[in-house]
Amino acid sequence: EQIEKGGYDHFMMKEIYEQPSAIMDTYRGRMLPNEGIIRMAGVDDNIERLANAKRIIVVACGTSWHAGLVSEYIFEDLARIPVEVEYASEFRYRNPVIYENDVVIAISQSGETADTMAAIKLAKEKGAFVFGVCNVVGSSISRETHAGAYTHAGPEIGVASTKAFTTQITVLTLIALKLAKYKGTISDSEFRFHLQELERIPAKISQVLEKNEQVKEIAFTYKDAPNCLYLGRGYNFPVALEGALKLKEISYIHAEGYPAAEMKHGPIALIDEQMPVVVIATNKGHYDKVVSNIQEIKSRSGKIIGIVTEGDEAVKELADYVIEVPETIESLTPLLTTIPLQLLSYHIAVMLGKNVDQPRNLAKSVTVE
Ligand code: AGP
Repeated sequence: EQIEKGGYDHFMMKEIYEQPSAIMDTYRGRMLPNEGIIRMAGVDDNIERLANAKRIIVVACGTSWHAGLVSEYIFEDLARIPVEVEYASEFRYRNPVIYENDVVIAISQSGETADTMAAIKLAKEKGAFVFGVCNVVGSSISRETHAGAYTHAGPEIGVASTKAFTTQITVLTLIALKLAKYKGTISDSEFRFHLQELERIPAKISQVLEKNEQVKEIAFTYKDAPNCLYLGRGYNFPVALEGALKLKEISYIHAEGYPAAEMKHGPIALIDEQMPVVVIATNKGHYDKVVSNIQEIKSRSGKIIGIVTEGDEAVKELADYVIEVPETIESLTPLLTTIPLQLLSYHIAVMLGKNVDQPRNLAKSVTVE
């Protein structure tokens, strides 16, 4: 097992550090930035069906559901296709309205999640075209769907999902870009620019991973907090949810993720000098509004950990700590902002002596209801 961990203390840490290469594996052979081409067999073979979808319904659970939420912003923004993101467990027990020209995208790392599988079967019965985004090759979900694309992240052993999340976002970005190009909702130069930026993401993740010691210091400061809030807006709202889920899963600290602007509709009542608030405040996407949320937290003595773009000044002045991530286009920021949140939960859990790779009460894939 020590050998399998490749010198890391836990699989989770190994998998966090594998993200630059995992993302390269996800786009290798599919994305040709110089030629301005994306090739994905599952998409190419069904391009009419996918591009003409009146609506995309994403079904997934847990972290995969968070990747689905990120994809809602990507598909709507780039390909102008309306998206609904559903918990598979809710979808399967409703009587959902599904039209024949709907496309259902099922996202699952393991490809074995029972609720996601049941949602796929229901969607197929109702005549929808179902596209799978799975990591495990040959898994049940990859076989049950009409077409799909693998994430190629390699085996993920840690129960807390890390590289599966970022590679799911990568695949979904490629699909959205391809549909956007086909539909003409994105210009050629924008398309190429997105590909070039995506190609720079692995190196930028490596730069974020260099902040590990700094994140460890922050983890030490807040490891005994009983609660933690995570805030983000737009593309980074699902990242806030994912950051909170990671902390809950492995450290057993109660954490909530919220869209930053919703804070004033309730969670602000929780803020006092005991409350750490992780705020994703990159310079793209409602930056000024997030800064004013930070001011509101500060005036109530909350402790602020800002995830900011390199060179940020406004948040730095207000926050107790900031972690910088390199600049990128807005739709790709989740691939960078997620990394410090994974490291933060990892270090807190280790410092609290928890079983990081196999947290209590959790299984890697939930094959029962
Ligand atoms: C993630 O950290 C969790 N362990 C969990 O939420 C997981 O993402 C969920 O059970 C879905 O699994 P799947 O992607 O294999 O379908």
